[in-house]
Amino acid sequence: MYQQIVVLTGAGISAESGLRTFRDQDGLWEEHKIEDVATPEGYARDPLLVERFYNARWQQFHNGAIEPNAGHMALAKLEKEFTGELLVVTQNIDDLHERAGSQRLLHMHGELTKGRCPRSQQTFLLTEPFGPKHTCTCCIPAQRLRPHVVWFGEMPFGLDRIQHALDSCDLFIAIGTSGTVYPAAGFVDTANHHGAQTVEINLVEADRHSQFQYHLQGKASEIVPKLVEDILQGKILS
Ligand code: NAD
Ligand code: APR
Repeated sequence: MYQQIVVLTGAGISAESGLRTFRDQDGLWEEHKIEDVATPEGYARDPLLVERFYNARWQQFHNGAIEPNAGHMALAKLEKEFTGELLVVTQNIDDLHERAGSQRLLHMHGELTKGRCPRSQQTFLLTEPFGPKHTCTCCIPAQRLRPHVVWFGEMPFGLDRIQHALDSCDLFIAIGTSGTVYPAAGFVDTANHHGAQTVEINLVEADRHSQFQYHLQGKASEIVPKLVEDILQGKILS
């Protein structure tokens, strides 16, 4: 029976809900330059372009068509029924984990549903797409909010808490992530180092698949519910 589990999710877990991944065929980085839309320098050069990029994502999951899938639901079930400790760390900026019911959840790359004051770092819930009228209420003069997402070259959120969880987990599960972006791509090494079992769930063998002790190949919506049932029944990977 596992006692402490850390789950890392990436764009792949939301793919079957209809959100595009970044690096797969037809992924977002095929038609957008990272340095234009996902760096502080890009934002300084052209904030409207960056806001348009995130607003397009924002609108996609606010139009009612995007719902959590069986993968998200299974992780929420695991949180509810597992008697040990669970932390879900997501690289995703969508809100599908929380809509499925996950609460012990850390958005290490930020949240699309929020804007952030660049001076105080206070966050504000967005009820409509980004625009120049989105300003903070914490500063005088009011500051224009920036997307509450982590761009390349910036520090992801919650690294201390993640490190702490990885140091003491006995199972680490990575779901739907290409394993190309650090520090998330290195979490498997930390978990291995501390003696945890490590398992990857992906449609393909991802970049760092050889670092995982187990590889479960297939759709997150099919594999995650099965693995969750096994864990809840006290089974250990072998
Ligand atoms: P890096 O991959 O070394 O990342 C540096 C830090 O930024 C990491 O801690 C990472 O977690 C974080 N980060 C920032 N924004 C992120 C986001 N939106 N998603 C995930 N992680 C994010 O990158 P770097 O050294 O800052 O980047 C150097 C350059 O390499 C970048 O300007 C970028 O254009 C390029 N790059 C390209 C790709 C690609 O897929 N083509 C991937 C990574 C970096
Ligand atoms: N089930 C399981 N895995 C899937 C599925 C699916 N239905 N669909 C796609 N995948 C896998 C792909 O095989 C791929 O390995 O999900 C992975 C998605 O990889 P990326 O698009 O690179 O997404 P991710 O790893 O989350 O990207 C990391 O990069 O640019 C940044 O901020 C961005 O947080 C993101 C980070």
